Amino acid sequence: MSALVIVGAQWGDEGKGKVVDLYAPYADLVVRYAGGANAGHTLVVGGEKLILHLIPSGILHEQTKCIVGQGTVIDPAVLLKEIRALGERGVSTLARLLISQRAHVVLPHHKQVDELREAKSHDAIGTTKRGIGPCYEDKVARRGIRMGDLLDASPLGTKLEANLDAWRPVIEDLGGTLPDSTSIQTEYAELGEMLRGYIGDATSAVREAVQSDGKILLEGAQGTMLDIDNGTYPFVTSSNAVAGGACAGAGIGPTHITRAVGIAKAYTTRVGGGPFPTELDDDVGQQLRDAGAEYGSTTGRPRRCGWLDLVALRHAVAVNGLDEIAITKLDVLSTLPTLEVCVAYELDGQRLSHPPYERIDAVTPVYDTLEGWDDDLSSCRARNELPVAAQRYIERIEKEVGCPVGLVSVGPDREDTADLKDPFYS
Ligand code: GDP
Ligand code: IMO
Ligand code: MG
Repeated sequence: MSALVIVGAQWGDEGKGKVVDLYAPYADLVVRYAGGANAGHTLVVGGEKLILHLIPSGILHEQTKCIVGQGTVIDPAVLLKEIRALGERGVSTLARLLISQRAHVVLPHHKQVDELREAKSHDAIGTTKRGIGPCYEDKVARRGIRMGDLLDASPLGTKLEANLDAWRPVIEDLGGTLPDSTSIQTEYAELGEMLRGYIGDATSAVREAVQSDGKILLEGAQGTMLDIDNGTYPFVTSSNAVAGGACAGAGIGPTHITRAVGIAKAYTTRVGGGPFPTELDDDVGQQLRDAGAEYGSTTGRPRRCGWLDLVALRHAVAVNGLDEIAITKLDVLSTLPTLEVCVAYELDGQRLSHPPYERIDAVTPVYDTLEGWDDDLSSCRARNELPVAAQRYIERIEKEVGCPVGLVSVGPDREDTADLKDPFYS
């Protein structure tokens, strides 16, 4: 068997959805292993756009089964909406989509607390307000509600009451009103009923795929720099977005993972607060935002834009054990006369090749200037068809971070891709 992890190598929104959609036809099973509806993964097929928040990005390929794994946190209403939207497009999910009974449920008060905290904080994280942090808090505190719980009304009521008791002082302290447990119970039991045909034993499904020599694609959400342990803490999400998170989040052993591919934009973006050393608060930043349509797929917020940060990417190569990088949005850099790439940080007179433990906001990026190109890249289907300056740009990335670049994406559509090959036989 082989299992390939696709992980965001920056601050999210690198184009993971597009790459998973491209690789899914080579896989038997796609498993989303972390995060929740904070993610927004965009697929563009024949000019038609689809944004998925919870359902794996392999869902458009009918022979591929999809699992939302135990490491995720699920807002059942969002999931149902996605299932229905796919149905309206003629994409059937029944018998192809399995939701882990162990995945935790995002409850109304998780979203309420997320919003109230963001509104009251002086140093807000800039979360997506999808209740992600509070839901993972419940999971770690061992009082969470899991998808399997939605299918059994009487323990659900008892568990919900205990859960709400724990949040009561927090919500009151934030000036909010505690929601009524009976109405949550009724609403969530109904949602559970509607999802009954999808919720099941994902652990066994993954084990069987391993035992039957299947090809498994593990789909990450967010990105390495947003990972709870490896990112720019505390300006991070609340889960392990990194490749290692795929083991616990999908229920697969590290010895089963055969390859890790990191997705990175040809520049850098970040949504929300927190340090961003190469951020461009100028016309070039705006040009990247305009050319790259850099507005959040989940919240619509303008993304902060900046030069490619090779220090962050080097870190991603290390902590994910990347075998390969897929570069996306190379087309967005076309027409810029010169391109800066951040090869190191400077902090207190010292040159750093990896991100420091803290004070990332105090570093000064050290840039090298590379030549730009004018050409439209969208018809390039192989790396050697790219303008020489673009080929040099990619070679420089490989040299600086010590990892080969495989696939290169030159536009949002499935077709706009250079060097696509079977990722299980690379
Ligand atoms: P994800 O969260 O990593 O799946 O990424 P998002 O879908 O949130 O954001 C990536 C955005 O870039 C989406 O709007 C994609 O359609 C778009 N995109 C992906 N690859 C390319 C590319 O090579 N060029 C351009 N111009 N857009 C791309
Ligand atoms: P995909 O999978 C980009 C960011 C938020 C915020 C921080 C914490 O589409 O790449 P949270 O709601 O998770 O508590 O917010 O993480 N964030 C993302 N940024 N892409 C994402 O997902 C993100 N998911 C969370 O903007 O800064
Ligand atoms: Mg996204």
